[in-house]
Order: sequence, then C-alpha cells, then structure tokens
Amino acid sequence: MTTGSPILRLRGIHKTYVVGESRVHALRGIDLDIEAGEFTALEGPSGCGKSTLLNICGLLDRADQGELHLLGEKLNGAGERRFTRLRREHIGFVFQNYNLLPVLSAAENIEYPLLLSRTPRQARRRQVDAIIEQVGLEAFAGHRPDHLSGGQRQRVAIARALINRPRLVIADEPTANLDTETASQMIELMRGLGRSRGTTFLIATHDDRMARRCDRIITLLDGVAGEKRENGGDHEMA
Ligand SMILES: Nc1ncnc2c1ncn2[C@@H]1O[C@H](COP(=O)(O)OP(=O)(O)O)[C@@H](O)[C@H]1O
Ligand SMILES: [Mg+2]
Repeated sequence: MTTGSPILRLRGIHKTYVVGESRVHALRGIDLDIEAGEFTALEGPSGCGKSTLLNICGLLDRADQGELHLLGEKLNGAGERRFTRLRREHIGFVFQNYNLLPVLSAAENIEYPLLLSRTPRQARRRQVDAIIEQVGLEAFAGHRPDHLSGGQRQRVAIARALINRPRLVIADEPTANLDTETASQMIELMRGLGRSRGTTFLIATHDDRMARRCDRIITLLDGVAGEKRENGGDHEMA
C-alpha cells in the first residue's frame, strides 16, 4: 500500500447492463477519490446507479471501462482471486436487508467473519464482546435475528462488517428499512465507529436527510457523479 494515496480512486468508470435487446448505461464516466477516514454519502434517486457503483467499489462487480485503484493498488486486469482476497481483507459490507444468518445468534453472526479468517477462539471472544458493547447490543447477544428489531439487526450487521477491521465499509441503503429516528441513530453509530476505528465509510442513500448527516456528499444523477458542497447545514462537522 502506498501511503498518502486515497483508499479508492475511480477514473472514467463505465458500466452498461445488457438485458435481451435493451441496454442500460448505468455509469457514464465516474471519477471519484475517497480518502482514508472519510464518511461519505452517495446520494441519488432510485435507479441512478448507486448500487452499481458500490458493487464496483466493493469488488463485487467489474466496470466495463475505466480505472479502479484500491489502497493504492491498480486493479485493472486483476484476477478473481486477487479481487476476492482484497475484498475479504479490506472491505466490509452493510446492506438494506441486513443479510444476517437466521439460525445464528447476534453474537454468532458477528463472530462469523472471524471464523472465516481463522482467528483463534480467545481473540474471537474478546473482539466480539468489545464490538457488541460498542454497538450497544449487550442485552441481545444471544438473540436470533427474528427476535431483534430492524435497528438492532442493522447494529448486528454493522458490527459484523467491522469485526475484521476492514479499511473500507460499503453500506448500500443501510437505513432504507428503518424509521427516521432509528435511521439517524445508525448513521451516528457508523460515524462514531468510523472515528474510533479509523474506518472509511461509503454509504448509499436516496434520503437527503441521511446524506446530510455525512461529512461529504457525492451525488449521482443519470450515471454521472457530482459533489454537493456543504453549507454548514444540520450536521456537525468532524
Ligand atoms: N443486474 C442488472 N441488470 C440489468 N439492469 C440493471 C441491473 N442492475 C441495475 N440495473 C439498472 O441499472 C440502473 C442503475 O441501477 P442501480 O445501480 O441499482 O441504481 P440504484 O442503486 O441507485 O437504485 C437502473 O436503471 C437499473 O434498472
Ligand atoms: Mg440500490
């Protein structure tokens, strides 16, 4: 990794979906730099390309054209194994529908990535206990997802995304299924964890109220990205 380079750098990213006879040009030349420690919203209406862009940033999908750098590494032409390794080691994901394993308790869901990375039992317990406290789920560690509220499920998902200490967390509409109060709490929780752990966040949302709680807002419209300048509105700056 090169120090001083952005966590993510995108240049001229294009993505077109072909379905039968029709083509959707979802991303039309995205240029974007995300610096370490930033807490950024990716904002825009439904269908504007947010998930497409996040999937490319998260190495879940590939652009048709353009340059992608992660942690200073240029990934054009990188093979599937390198993508998988980089994704596992450096990126955490949070989704709208939480994507928790229904048969596991909250603590077990959070622990799961540590099992995959072969972390020893003692260290797993220590790390899981610590993050459960940080996300405020001490009283719910043994509960399965169907016995948790939406906000509690998303707390589990956020803890799971962070447990392996990724450099970057990608959250796709993490507040879309939550009421405004709970949604705001989730944003503040992620912001606090980002600060205390030095994690970079990129959060897609179609809700301007949530975007305004982030430190930086990238707007996406018709597959082109822009930057919304902050006016010192209703969120505190870092
Ligand atoms: N797998 C896919 N196949 C075909 N079209 C897709 C696919 N995924 C997304 N699209 C289209 O690409 C555009 C951008 O979608 P998406 O990235 O999901 O936007 P958003 O997340 O902002 O709602 C939309 O027109 C959508 O219909
Ligand atoms: Mg989407």
